[in-house]
Amino acid sequence: MSRLHESAVGHVSGRAIYTDEQHPPVGMLSLHPVQSPHAHARILGIDAAAARAIDGVVGVLTATDIPGENDTGPIIHDEPLIPAELVQFHGQAVAWVVARDAATAAAAARLVHVEYQALPALLDIPQAIAAGSYHLPPARVARGDASAAIAAARHRIEGELAVGGQDHFYLETQASWVSIDAEGSVQITSSTQHPTETQIIVARVLGIPAHRVVCRCLRMGGGFGGKETQANPYAAVAALAAWKFGRPARIKLPRAIDMQMTGKRHPFFARYQAGFDDNGVLQAIDLDLYADGGWSVDLSPPVLMRAMVHVDNAYFIPHVAIRGLICKTHLASNTAFRGFGGPQGMIVGEEIIDRVARHLGLDPVLVRERNFYRPGQNPDRNQTHYGQPVVDNQIERLWQQLLERSDFHARREDIRTFNRAHDQCKRGIAITPVKFGISFNKTEYNQAGALVHVYTDGSVQLNHGGTEMGQGLHTKMLAVASRVLGVTERSIRVMATSTDKVPNTSATAASSGSDLNGQAVKAACDTLRGRLAPVAAQLLGGQAEEVIFAEGRVWLAGRDDHTLNFAEVVAAAYRSRISLSATGYYRTPGLSWDPALGQGHPFYYFAYGAAVSEVEVCGYTGVHSLRRVDLLHDVGDSLVEAIDRGQIEGGFVQGMGWLTCEELRWSNSGRLLTDAPSTYKIPTIDDVPLQFNVDLYRRADPPSTEVIFHSKGVGEPPLMLALSVREALREAVAAFGRADRVDLAAPSTPEAIFMAIDRVRAHAG
Ligand code: MTE
Ligand code: MOS
Repeated sequence: MSRLHESAVGHVSGRAIYTDEQHPPVGMLSLHPVQSPHAHARILGIDAAAARAIDGVVGVLTATDIPGENDTGPIIHDEPLIPAELVQFHGQAVAWVVARDAATAAAAARLVHVEYQALPALLDIPQAIAAGSYHLPPARVARGDASAAIAAARHRIEGELAVGGQDHFYLETQASWVSIDAEGSVQITSSTQHPTETQIIVARVLGIPAHRVVCRCLRMGGGFGGKETQANPYAAVAALAAWKFGRPARIKLPRAIDMQMTGKRHPFFARYQAGFDDNGVLQAIDLDLYADGGWSVDLSPPVLMRAMVHVDNAYFIPHVAIRGLICKTHLASNTAFRGFGGPQGMIVGEEIIDRVARHLGLDPVLVRERNFYRPGQNPDRNQTHYGQPVVDNQIERLWQQLLERSDFHARREDIRTFNRAHDQCKRGIAITPVKFGISFNKTEYNQAGALVHVYTDGSVQLNHGGTEMGQGLHTKMLAVASRVLGVTERSIRVMATSTDKVPNTSATAASSGSDLNGQAVKAACDTLRGRLAPVAAQLLGGQAEEVIFAEGRVWLAGRDDHTLNFAEVVAAAYRSRISLSATGYYRTPGLSWDPALGQGHPFYYFAYGAAVSEVEVCGYTGVHSLRRVDLLHDVGDSLVEAIDRGQIEGGFVQGMGWLTCEELRWSNSGRLLTDAPSTYKIPTIDDVPLQFNVDLYRRADPPSTEVIFHSKGVGEPPLMLALSVREALREAVAAFGRADRVDLAAPSTPEAIFMAIDRVRAHAG
């Protein structure tokens, strides 16, 4: 079934409304930050008199204006909303100007005089390691005895890999507006992936109970993890302005300020050792993983943990020792980003596999295959290093299907011929797998609720706890509700997500939005259908079990000569005083996780995929083009195919951006230099592969787990299909010389590729 995204027409025609376009009430104030020009400094004094004197300025907010707790930290309370004493990154807001419009606020912000005492700053992972600057003690995940197994192995390698971060570049920057209603309730509209947390943090900052705060989100113009926690401070400071000045207040960060102030995908640094046999079969890895957390903890612990439990990707490694550390630096606080640390873990695993293959002079495809998790006689060979069996293992079947569909081996022969004939232009092709765990590592987040109302005309209002950020969650929830209630999608209206409709929700994240909310919606609709069936049976003269609801019609099985409208049944139920409103609730069964031990069953299931990429690299410039990409991805029984295809394509392209063209640079004083699309290059339509084949994996049987209608989460896993681009680039670079290793920086910008070619050539010469 191919269906449109519920807002598709709105998206492309500009009629879809976002947070800052929702008819702000009259008298709405605007905020603008006063940003620090130092990455680390003591605040000695703030003089806002000149700003206050500007016509249209209502006030200037500093730390002393906060009535509640001056903190927005989601896990650890280490994140002052407005710092009182200490600046911890370049561009941090030390005060906020509140004015009648955005231009006035911005102009007045320049007149706020702040006196600083500059302090030394740590601006990257190596500096933090040298200074021993970390958030929290190290995390560990281990199995067996890695150092003994490496010592005993026939072959050993060791190495390092630095991986760059990534800006979310959601099209809609951080935005919130807040009004205090006549009864004193705080009404927040926010572009947030986590309305409940936004509600809780605003209540914390204002020092009021959560029941006085409502947070709603209609839709986001992209979140990608960047609004999982980092929408909170902007909602909080807008709420503070509304609270203090008694007028509605809004924030919509300009692009450059958004890029300067918000955290990004964590840059990582890995130091690894691996032991393996003559066939390239891994025996052990020993790994130190460092994540650049930035100035505050934010979500860094679970991001790092997800990296640690994705290092294995699709490969069985008998002995594993991983230590993880979060570097505390003077940069914006890094946060969730599609894949949530998984990509940073998996890139290290793929790096090691490639090193093993080249060290032994073996085909990387073969080495990958030899290391796959395998269900079979030895159950241990299908168990991860954190103690979870690789349920529903589809890796090999999917891999073989893609090798065939993409005509991989024949094309690789052609590429070898091409490369022999060209000195300064080389092609490369590679295939990589994806295995990605679905569920929040933190078990308690794996719950969801829904609230469904049926009105007496038969129309339906659908509320659920998830947020819409373009990923098509609302479209999928419509599909679930219409299927269970047996009504057309037109008769259902999905409402804006709101904390007074469905409370205590989890972030829409970890690719589990449709799994969790879908089951909750189904539960609510099952309840309603259960109440309506006896009413229909009575009207139709049959038994409740015989009643069929479909496409807005109701009849008895085998007797479709007599049908009723859904609305007729609803009206009869109302007359019989039967409740037409129901809640639904769901929690994922069977999960466990011990964060201290790094062991358990954190994921309900895994999503699988594989990708083949073919590139051409220019030896003079390091510029590459992506000639062809074939993706095969497992979504189980798709809820909405068009949505899933869009997620696979978009995820792949976003991953490709991370691995190739998106490069963050900071000045020596910690100022983000790449804070605009002119200096920070995200992929455009021009970078999309010339030939782009996206296929949904056709399974032999539905997934064994009870995910909503046997579907699988699809939001994040396809991002990691882009690792095939990196490996294809490595193949092309390798073709410029002869080397038993090909070091390639991440991201592989033209400059990085050129330098990699240089090293390979030097090796050959
Ligand atoms: N797709 C679009 N178009 N926009 C987004 O912001 N976010 C991604 C992914 N796909 C995102 C997206 C991220 S980070 C996650 S976790 C999932 O969608 C969240 O939604 P889901 O759980 O409903 O898949
Ligand atoms: Mo996605 S990074 O889990 O919001």
